Amino acid sequence: MQALVLLLWTGALLGHGSSQNTAGSQEEGSPAPDTTGMPVEEEDPFFKVPVNKLAAAISNFGYDLYRARSSMSPAANVLLSPLSVATALSALSLGAEQRTESTIHRALYYDLISNPDIHGTYKELLASVTAPQKNFKSASRIVFERKLRIKSSFVAPLEKSYGTRPRILIGNPRLDLQEMNSWVQTQMKGKIARSTREVPSGISILLLGVAYFKGQWVTKFDSKKTSLADFHLDEERTVRVPMMSDPKAILRYGLDSDLNCQIAQLPLTGSMSIIFFLPQKVTQNLTMIEESLTSEFIHDIDRELKTIQAVLTIPKLKLNDESEVTKSLQEIKLQSLFDSPDFSKITGKAIKLTQVEHRAGFEWNEDGAGSTSNPGLQPTRLTFPLDYHLNQPFIFVLRDTDTGALLFIGKILDPRGT
Ligand SMILES: *[C@@H]1O[C@H](CO)[C@@H](O)[C@H](O)[C@H]1NC(C)=O
Repeated sequence: MQALVLLLWTGALLGHGSSQNTAGSQEEGSPAPDTTGMPVEEEDPFFKVPVNKLAAAISNFGYDLYRARSSMSPAANVLLSPLSVATALSALSLGAEQRTESTIHRALYYDLISNPDIHGTYKELLASVTAPQKNFKSASRIVFERKLRIKSSFVAPLEKSYGTRPRILIGNPRLDLQEMNSWVQTQMKGKIARSTREVPSGISILLLGVAYFKGQWVTKFDSKKTSLADFHLDEERTVRVPMMSDPKAILRYGLDSDLNCQIAQLPLTGSMSIIFFLPQKVTQNLTMIEESLTSEFIHDIDRELKTIQAVLTIPKLKLNDESEVTKSLQEIKLQSLFDSPDFSKITGKAIKLTQVEHRAGFEWNEDGAGSTSNPGLQPTRLTFPLDYHLNQPFIFVLRDTDTGALLFIGKILDPRGT
């Protein structure tokens, strides 16, 4: 226990309460107190950069969406790339009149940003997180009911900022499915399997978000050390899964005594990292951790973790998701988009959101850039070796280090993906 005590910090240090309650509430343009040399948390210079500020806003939407999604399937894995859904919504807001536009803006936390050019900044953010070295693909699309006449004043800014064209359904379920599948294949370079789910009838507006990621660790795992090992599904049930291990892993670590969870961060190539949340006892109830997730909290964690050496084991992972997130969105301030929204900037006809779909693929294995860790990292010397075993339910967050954007979030109750 002594080793853990060394690294124990209080919730206050991690910013529980403080930064959470003020999530995104800082005013843009207020002068940074750089004369004191001790900037207060609310005025972290990181969030002064417009693209980082926007990333924090849509990531907070992402955590909301994740919580809604996770509470609907308490006993199942969740894999979600909320960015693709946020992008579709942000793009859709270009066609929304005031009342409807503010509904979307509130859900995406844009009401807390004073940025006159949100859509221009969004374009910058997308270009940054989907740069080739990130290995992250994300695409979004707005699909409209058949025969809808769309104003060109909506199409032009949509293409300019979001690089996407609206799609109008043909009305033939087989052809529409075929077309959707080939769009996904093109966007994801064939990494996501074709869907067999037909486009339901009665669609007015359908949003589709797709994403794919395959992690490349900064330090690769030795595949000779991968073997079948126990994963505790809960207090009673155990399964055997391929588990990678590194007896001398360098990782960033902290024990959160409020959340009773061990947090670790492993770097990936392309300025990305994965942050793991591992409860101190085996449980499928990860609610406490989920409730604490905000962009500001994750940013604080990223600053506070200490570099250490540990015995690390981590299951290989290959997950797919094809699901509707319609109900989850309705739960997070967006119900009115499904009732009687005002999209008169898109068309003269009364249209409304009817369905939101998410498709994603996510994978990590032993692959990585180098076989030895960065010599620049000096681990804190511990009296006792620390073990970090992801052999029970955990949450992971894939974060872009450059912008702070949340790119993927997963609740892993069973790494076999069942
Ligand atoms: C999960 O944990 C939370 C907080 O610890 C608790 O309030 C809730 O009742 C638990 N849920 C279940 C299903 O046990």
